[in-house]
This record gives sequence, C-alpha cells and structure tokens, in this order.
Amino acid sequence: MTNAVAMRTITVTAPAKVNLHLEVLGLRSDGFHELAMVMQSIELVDRLTFSNTADAQLHLSCDQPDLSIGDDNLVLRAAHLLRQRSGLNELGATIHLEKHIPIGAGLAGGSSDGAAALVGLNALWGLGFSDLDLEGLAAELGSDMPFCIRGGSQLCFGRGELLEPLPTISDPLAVLLVKDPRVSVSTPWAYQRCRDVHGSSYLQGEVAFEQQRQILRQESWTQPIRAAEPPPLRNDLQPVVAPETPAVEIGLRLLHTLPDALAVAMSGSGPSCFALYQSFRTCEQARSRLQREFQQAGLLAWCCRLRPCGAKIEG
Ligand code: C5P
Repeated sequence: MTNAVAMRTITVTAPAKVNLHLEVLGLRSDGFHELAMVMQSIELVDRLTFSNTADAQLHLSCDQPDLSIGDDNLVLRAAHLLRQRSGLNELGATIHLEKHIPIGAGLAGGSSDGAAALVGLNALWGLGFSDLDLEGLAAELGSDMPFCIRGGSQLCFGRGELLEPLPTISDPLAVLLVKDPRVSVSTPWAYQRCRDVHGSSYLQGEVAFEQQRQILRQESWTQPIRAAEPPPLRNDLQPVVAPETPAVEIGLRLLHTLPDALAVAMSGSGPSCFALYQSFRTCEQARSRLQREFQQAGLLAWCCRLRPCGAKIEG
C-alpha cells in the first residue's frame, strides 16, 4: 500500500485591472476609505502554476528576483488562508509565479496573483469553495482582491470588496497603458494624501454614501460600455498623486496628445495611466505613433484588450 499523492498541475492566468471610475466618498470607522469604483480587467496577465505535493509545505517561486517570495507575498497569504479554512492541514503545493504585470503600478497585480492562488488551489485541492466563498476570503487579504476573482466589469463599493457585476462589454475596446518602470506609488500614501487635501469635504455617513452609489448605478455604467458613447473616466486619487509624481504628469500629458483616444486617466493609486481606444488596432497605431516620446520619457507601453473575466484556469 502506498500513500503517494497523484501529481497534478494547474495553470491560472491572473489579469491586471484598470479603474474606469474611482470616487473617494469618505472615511470609514475602520480607517479605510469608502469608495465607489468601476473596475475593469484587462489582457495583461501573470501566470501561476500550481502542483500538489504530499509534504504539507507551501512553496512559492517567481521569475522576478526583486519580488518577495516569503510569507508576506499575497499568493502565500492566500494559500495559507485557504488551507486553514479547509481544515486540511496536510495539503501542500508548489507555486510558480510568472510575472508580467508591473509591480506597485495601480493595476492590482499582487491582488490578482492572490486571487489566482485562491482559484487555483481551490481546484487543485478539490475543496469546492464557490466564487462567493473565495471573494469572502479575498476580502480578508486586500480591498481589490475580491474583484480579481471574477473580474470583468464590476461596480465595487465599500473598501472595494462589495461587488455588483456590470454587463460584459461587447465592443472590442482596448487600453494603451503606460508606466515608468523606475517609479511605484504607495497606496497608503496616496489615500493619506487624499485625506490631507480633501478630508474636510468628505461625505459623512451611510445615507450620503448610498446616494452616491445610487448615482453611479444609474449612470451609463449599467449599459455595456460602447465606443460611440465613451464613459467619462474619473479617478479622485489622480489630482493628488499626479502633482507629486512626474511620471504620472508626463504619462497623462503624452496620452492626451493622441487625437483618437476616447478618454485618459490614471489607474488606481498610480503611477500607471491609460487611454481607452475603440479597437486594439487603433490602440497599436497610437502606441507606434508615440513610441519615440515614450522611450525618451522612460515609459513602457502596452496595448491590452479588455477582459470579460478575472482569474481563470487555463486549458
Ligand atoms: O486593502 P489594501 O491592503 O489593498 O489597502 C492598502 C492601503 O490603502 C490601506 O492600508 C489603506 O491605507 C489604503 N486604502 C484605503 N481605503 C481603501 C482601500 C485602501 O484607505 N478603500
């Protein structure tokens, strides 16, 4: 008799997101900000490979040496939390993270990797948690992480963890994303800065918050986004982060010079910025038009299709 575990391997793609709308409503009693957001997954993905082991160890490796692979990494935090909630402490896995989403960019790369760990290990270990269960676990680990489980287009309220899915976008829209690889923005700093500058005009209390949520629900967001009627992008962190972060100012200025962009904004707490395009082809044309300027400014640029889902098991 042998108790050898049959070796299985699962690969999960973990997409980046951009904020089509990020509205800071006020401050909560837990110290976090009350937000009203529209988040959108994009086809810029990390890839995580999970294999089960019989040694009850959780081991992470990564192709980027500057990223921590210790217990502070959201992938391992997610793996430990999932295993603990399953009550099956004998479960083990090796996880390899292939990183493509820039770090500290406002694109939820770390959150998406953590969400992918929940989705991948849930399947690998056959635990049978629902997406809703996984979103609940994700909310314990980070504000953007619940969105990253199902992704696509969603309204995100509360700290970001209260999700209301939006219709899938049928137009073949794309984003031209730019980021200076030498610059990252600390999310706590961005929110603290917002509080310092705008705290005195924050809304107070649940009734006022709910009124703003209702406005967002009734705006055009409940219809699939269409190139013919591009959404008015908004990011309340942009006016506080941009003046302190030259890479954001430069990125926004260059993107605004493109005549056929539908709209331009910073994503999350920055420093990545993006322009919305009606098609992948017009997006690529815009990138080649500004190739020299991006290079001179030290900005990397990606063309990404919008993605209708979040973390996804491949194959
Ligand atoms: O939840 P997460 O770890 O991503 O948040 C990082 C930091 O960003 C928090 O510690 C807080 O300073 C700030 N934040 C906030 N309000 C939110 C989300 C994040 O103030 N809704």
